[in-house]
Amino acid sequence: MTAQIINGKEIAKKLREKIKNEVQELKGKGITPGLAVILVGDDPASQVYVRNKEKACQEVGIYSEIHHLSETISQSELINLIDKLNTNPQIHGILVQLPIPAHLNEKEVIERISPQKDVDGFHPLNAGALFVGEKSLQPCTPKGCLYLLKEIGYDLKGKKAVVVGRSNIVGKPVAMMLLQEHATVTICHSRTKDLKSELLQADVVVAAVGKANFIKGDMLKPGAVVLDVGINRLENGKLVGDVDFETAKEKASWITPVPGGVGPMTIAMLLANTLEAAQNTLG
Ligand code: GUN
Repeated sequence: MTAQIINGKEIAKKLREKIKNEVQELKGKGITPGLAVILVGDDPASQVYVRNKEKACQEVGIYSEIHHLSETISQSELINLIDKLNTNPQIHGILVQLPIPAHLNEKEVIERISPQKDVDGFHPLNAGALFVGEKSLQPCTPKGCLYLLKEIGYDLKGKKAVVVGRSNIVGKPVAMMLLQEHATVTICHSRTKDLKSELLQADVVVAAVGKANFIKGDMLKPGAVVLDVGINRLENGKLVGDVDFETAKEKASWITPVPGGVGPMTIAMLLANTLEAAQNTLG
């Protein structure tokens, strides 16, 4: 079997068009959605991500401002900025680009962001809401994964899903969302005894481990749907996922490429969350 490709780039583009229309509608009611992105330091990859977020906002008519802070900023200066943004009525979403320098307290920073403006869905209140199945702002990459499954018309009910990776950003939240859609969910990680035997049972695989080409075709059940969240750069400069695309596509029924799969969905969902946070202010 050769898998069908899940074209995240196209799906994200369509979604951005829909968001653009809803932004226009909200503007008609006197509200322009606004996103503040905080970038600390000069990490080149983070700078690219932040620039892409800014560009995406402009395209759909969302107001955005970038706060580019020095690598040496203090915790209290960063907290003061978050406090100001929390009370700024023009700003509906606040995102602190991670990772932040080691001298800063990431947990305190995340918890300082108003849960209503937490467009990353990382605040414990939003994470808790996801855990108990209540509506809330949800993490962008996991939300993008579920959107892709919906787009290909995949019904998760009763299916076996295996998530590889247990981060707070992807692994844990995506597992909760799959569970919410009635899948039977297993979370695997670096201490899992026999990853291959777990994967061989999986109807759906979400790979979020951060290891280049880690999951090979022979580890997949024939016909599996494979979502590859990994973005790894090889020494030759090539961008690859956590799944070995060439061997996996011979076993899977559907698979996301890297780049052009899950990646574009993350930014589209950030726009969706910013729009949602702005809509929520209407009551
Ligand atoms: N760094 C890598 N991924 C993310 C993300 O989803 N949100 C934030 N804030 N930082 C990141």
